[in-house]
Amino acid sequence: MSTRALIVAPSARAGIGFGEVADPVAGTGQVLVNVLHTSLNYADLNNARNGRVPVGSPLGLDAAGVVTRGAADGSGPSTGTRVVLFADGAFAKRVAVDVSAVAEVPDGVGLAEAAALPTAGLAALRSLRSAAAAPGKRVLVTGASGGVGRYAVQLAAHAGAYVIASVGSSERGVGLASAGANEVIIGLDDVKEPVDIVVESVGGGHLVTAWKLLAPGGSLQSVGWASGEPAVFPPYSTVGPPKTLVSYVNEFAAADDLADLVRLVAEGALVPAIGWRGSWERFTEAADELIGRRVHGKAVFDL
Ligand SMILES: NC(=O)c1ccc[n+]([C@@H]2O[C@H](COP(=O)([O-])OP(=O)(O)OC[C@H]3O[C@@H](n4cnc5c(N)ncnc54)[C@H](OP(=O)(O)O)[C@@H]3O)[C@@H](O)[C@H]2O)c1
Repeated sequence: MSTRALIVAPSARAGIGFGEVADPVAGTGQVLVNVLHTSLNYADLNNARNGRVPVGSPLGLDAAGVVTRGAADGSGPSTGTRVVLFADGAFAKRVAVDVSAVAEVPDGVGLAEAAALPTAGLAALRSLRSAAAAPGKRVLVTGASGGVGRYAVQLAAHAGAYVIASVGSSERGVGLASAGANEVIIGLDDVKEPVDIVVESVGGGHLVTAWKLLAPGGSLQSVGWASGEPAVFPPYSTVGPPKTLVSYVNEFAAADDLADLVRLVAEGALVPAIGWRGSWERFTEAADELIGRRVHGKAVFDL
């Protein structure tokens, strides 16, 4: 038996196409999930080209659906449970996933909303936690219009911090003030006082400027590099009172943090911004919108 998936296909546009892959077989400590929604990340587009995912294998990291078989060892969610997951190969109708990468989705939270959470939500949650976002802290979020950025703005505001959301244009900043940003600015020129924390996902000149804006003792969380541009630090810009540039990557054992994210959604403290939604048959269209910086938040697929 086989299952339909979006796979690495070098001859297809963007290197991604539909294919049939072997039906997943759950190992010990894994659940089988019938995937109903997935969401698209920059990483998926990169992984189609960088060799991280082999040709012919399913792409994807984020999904939500229903457990069709609980883990043989009795751990994790049981058959019939609605779940969100963060795992390689999420762009498939059926997946086998470690219970350490799955969380139950509470009643009242839609599975499409849950599918929008993992990659971007985990990056925002964990980077802000690592930097100890709290009341009295000034938090700068670059790329605030995007997937990571819209979660980071909401979570920093929820932590009680003063939030400055940096976007590329006023149109890209729509909704960020109501999401909790105290200031929505275009670029970084209007940051007038040093900041304690930066959630930085643009790279290039944004990274250099954000470092300059960071107060002594501050923490710059380098989450992504959406611009793809090099960062050139002026001489001596890294010499001075101690402050920290922290590299960040999502680890897969995400069950507890995914549970935190869906709980925050259930409580109304976090609202997944879904800027594009449609059938996964329209994958190419969504990828074009994401690359074209026209998605406010996340692109979510219905399977
Ligand atoms: N380390 C990790 O584990 C991890 C996890 C999640 C994401 N990431 C990375 O974080 C970055 C952002 O991810 P995301 O999901 O938030 O992406 P996204 O939804 O596309 O948002 C990225 C934002 O960056 C801004 N941007 C500025 N210059 C850009 C340029 N030249 N090209 C494209 N975007 C530009 C855009 O804002 P404006 O249009 O307002 O300028 C855009 O909204 C990506 O590099 C991604 O790979 C890393």
